[in-house]
Amino acid sequence: MDSKVIRQKFIDFFKARGHKEIAAAKLVLENDPTTLFTSSGMQPLVPYLLAQEHPEGKRLVNSQPCFRAEDIEEVGDNRHTTFFEMLGNWSLGDYFKEEQLNWCWELLTKELGLPKEKLYVSLFEGDKSVPKDMEAYDIWKSLGVADDHIFFYGVDKNWWSRSGPPNKMPPGEIGGPDSEVFFEFTQVPDNPYAHYYNDCHPNCNCGRFLEIGNSVFIQYQKQEDGSLKELSQKNVDFGGGLERLVAAVNNNLDMFESDLFSKIINSIENISGRVYQDITDNMSIIADHVKAATFLIASGVTPSNKLQGYVLRRLLRRVAVKFNDMCGMTDNIKDLAEIATSVIDTYEGTGLLEISKTDLKLVITDEMDRFSRTLDRGLKEIEKIDVIDGKKAFELYQTFGFPLEVIKEIFKGKGKGEINQEEFEEEFKKHQELSRTASSGMFKGGLADHSEIVTKYHTATHLLHQALRDVLGPQVFQQGSNITAERLRFDFSYDRKMTDEEIKHTEDLVNQRIKEDLKVDHMIVDLDKAKQMNAIGLFDEKYADKVSIYGVGPGYKLDAGAKDQRARGGYYSLEFCGGPHVKHSGIIGRIKITKEEATSAGVRRIRAEIVLN
Ligand code: ALA
Repeated sequence: MDSKVIRQKFIDFFKARGHKEIAAAKLVLENDPTTLFTSSGMQPLVPYLLAQEHPEGKRLVNSQPCFRAEDIEEVGDNRHTTFFEMLGNWSLGDYFKEEQLNWCWELLTKELGLPKEKLYVSLFEGDKSVPKDMEAYDIWKSLGVADDHIFFYGVDKNWWSRSGPPNKMPPGEIGGPDSEVFFEFTQVPDNPYAHYYNDCHPNCNCGRFLEIGNSVFIQYQKQEDGSLKELSQKNVDFGGGLERLVAAVNNNLDMFESDLFSKIINSIENISGRVYQDITDNMSIIADHVKAATFLIASGVTPSNKLQGYVLRRLLRRVAVKFNDMCGMTDNIKDLAEIATSVIDTYEGTGLLEISKTDLKLVITDEMDRFSRTLDRGLKEIEKIDVIDGKKAFELYQTFGFPLEVIKEIFKGKGKGEINQEEFEEEFKKHQELSRTASSGMFKGGLADHSEIVTKYHTATHLLHQALRDVLGPQVFQQGSNITAERLRFDFSYDRKMTDEEIKHTEDLVNQRIKEDLKVDHMIVDLDKAKQMNAIGLFDEKYADKVSIYGVGPGYKLDAGAKDQRARGGYYSLEFCGGPHVKHSGIIGRIKITKEEATSAGVRRIRAEIVLN
């Protein structure tokens, strides 16, 4: 069975059980300051797991492209990737453990034909605040799973939230105990842990078992005082990596040999003249990173030195260095753009990857051109260094994307000093620690203590959008937005710099709407009705039949001088949006526009902050 068949079987299975298929979210979520990338299927659904009504109902299913930057160093074996597709099904306060585990078992054993004796399950062993999951245990037993195929683990293995075990969850974060299913491969690859096989267990890392699905019972929310409180609704959040399911169904542990990678690997082989079997680690890194980069570019990310753009840059530069390392083709790194087109071929017809080969090649070629210049500068920098220590090596790695082994080789070739591996690794660990702190800080900034402030900024963004249309005209449309606990950033279509008067007028309009303390309404309506009401939306996006819209200021009378004279269904502002928003505009405070600048041709960017007075 190939990936297309498995993906479709999964979706159809849950559709037949009352689930609605929802569109996948972008890899970079709009208005979600809590994270850089979509890293699991539930992420775009958080408001609904917290009991907001979903336009498509209480049972949902989809396949969600995900990216996990933290796994970047793990890639290079047969089963780790930064990019993957997560097949997901959800119950938003509808069915719970009984239905979920029964369906999960039926799907794996009947629909996908996995042999029962090759499946193992794990369960939460309980802790001081959440009981051992005997309910799920009884269900697995009733399905015929033998005791020696059932394992209990603690919070580190069988608890799921976006930030890990309960002690790592910031206040406001949701999660719960989970039950994972593992597949046991009949042929295990040669690996250094093989001697552990006799006493290994499903959750160990030896390669004999692979986790293929995780049913999370999202029923708790972390409180300010550190305790866990039951949510008003009990949810199911299932996620299964498609790449892993394909590996299990075909009993081939090497994901890179599946149809989700074969075209990409073939393309690398053709261009490099090397064979996958001879050089699996480098090729799997290149294949994974090129695929991830392609999906990021299709989501609108461009290489830069900040946030998502920096992650994309690292991926592409690592690919270039690996490729060069593999076959010494520094002058031909532009060929890498050609490899990326095989990613488009791989996902053709899935609707998951929408970008033209020409656009994709342009972004990659541009970055590769820049990198060849950096590479030259890096090599010149190396010329100047006589003795290299771990710290300097790490700097070269950071600045130019040279991995340690490449730096070592260059230095050896020049007959210069040798690098202390331990020192380098120490620097590396420090850096990892820092980025971990940075991302958990970011997580907290968005969700926990600051969730209220982010919500205020979000509503302020809607008011700003409408005020800009009032001041500049209806040609103004949102092109993107990014909200943190500190500020809002709003990109919109407009072809010239705003005058100081226009900026002041816009700011005044937003502040007036805030002062008027307008009510904010959330509505779920038919798509046609939303259009009839003139809700502002990104119409190039795919919308479901029913959509979620937010209106600020019901019954609002337009300013006599307002340029936007459309009827807005009686609202001052009306937009397609998943929320969350404040209930009344008055709570926002006062905003100040701090910057207005161009971002690209025809697109302007405003930054604004909420100020105290
Ligand atoms: N959200 C769960 C996970 O990512 C299903 O494993």
